[in-house]
Amino acid sequence: MQLSEKCLAITGSVTLALDAKSKELKAQGKDVVGMGAGEPDFDTPAYIISAAKQAMDMGMTKYTPVAGTLSLRQAICDKLQKQNGLRYTPDQIVVSSGAKQSLFNTFSAILNPGDEVLIPSPCWVSYPEIVKMCGGVPVFVPTCEQNDFCPDPLAIEMAITPRTKAIVINSPNNPTGCVYPEALLRRIAELCVRHELFAVSDEIYELLIYGDQKHVSIASFGPQIQAQTIVINGVSKTYAMTGWRIGYTASDLTVAKAMTKFQSHSTSNPNSIAQYAAQIALSQENPDGKTMHDAFDARRKALCQGLNAIDGLSCLCPHGAFYIMLNISGLLGKRFEGTVIDGSMTLSDLLLEHELLAVVPGAGFMADHYVRLSYAVSMENIEKCLQRLSHFVSMLEG
Ligand SMILES: Cc1ncc(COP(=O)(O)O)c(C=O)c1O
Repeated sequence: MQLSEKCLAITGSVTLALDAKSKELKAQGKDVVGMGAGEPDFDTPAYIISAAKQAMDMGMTKYTPVAGTLSLRQAICDKLQKQNGLRYTPDQIVVSSGAKQSLFNTFSAILNPGDEVLIPSPCWVSYPEIVKMCGGVPVFVPTCEQNDFCPDPLAIEMAITPRTKAIVINSPNNPTGCVYPEALLRRIAELCVRHELFAVSDEIYELLIYGDQKHVSIASFGPQIQAQTIVINGVSKTYAMTGWRIGYTASDLTVAKAMTKFQSHSTSNPNSIAQYAAQIALSQENPDGKTMHDAFDARRKALCQGLNAIDGLSCLCPHGAFYIMLNISGLLGKRFEGTVIDGSMTLSDLLLEHELLAVVPGAGFMADHYVRLSYAVSMENIEKCLQRLSHFVSMLEG
């Protein structure tokens, strides 16, 4: 009995594997500090919770249209117009069970077997795997810390072949926290138009930007690039609604119809109650939004400062999302109790085992000289993390 080749080609999520290990240690009563979280540690705002209760009381417990209720899709259009300067009609919006399903729908709708998708790396673990599951071939365009982890448009152009179908843009970025400047997005838009590529623009962290930079959607540069862009967004990160599973796409009508067809035979509509809660989340002022944003900002500064003060470690202070890429090059080749640190996997294992500190190995993000730390954790845990890292580094030999 053989499993499918498609299934065998997929790598399981390193983030979830690490999460499982640290949960196991926690269950044994160990004081594990988890810096791997990909979700806000805040509760969903109260006005959204009440909306969900109301939805149940109002009987919103039945199937909805596959692409989501008209009122939610209209609220998404209003949001896109108000916050991003983008005009869409509700029939161009497809609501799904999380942005992850939106990405799955997207690549299912646009890829033929062997089509290539450019992905600036380090990248979020799921992009290459979703592309592979949809028959495509991920092609990485490496970025570097010296360039703030922003892709070089020339490197993107060099990677384009006759099989290239799309490019993934993820700004603010997971895992690097970089925010693409508008000038760079304009260069990428120009490449997409010239080479007839789809721009898959994952904007799920758009409201989590610190400092002066502004979020700009690549779709906002004119009708041609808007027609070629599939905007991916959702409520998971900015409204602390990871468990509610609501994401959406905004795209050209033909693409939206194709995605709806796929979704109609996979999950049908996303959860009806969560849809109403998302509608209220998007259409009312979020009183907790600023508190959450400012808390992330304060933690970001404390974590960056502390990390850069530890010998052998360094990081850029990211402008967005809630992740830091910690450069571990200075520790490579050193030994901990006889074990040579030969990459991010070994380091992450040692930190978990000996310091009860869970970090995500950069290898999962195509960046083995880094580990990813999330600052969606309390200040107390940030302090513990810094103490444990300092202690670990002081024990190294070589
Ligand atoms: C860049 C990026 N896109 C999409 C998602 C998926 O979001 P959702 O919870 O809406 O599926 C994540 C979650 O970690 C993410 O980091």
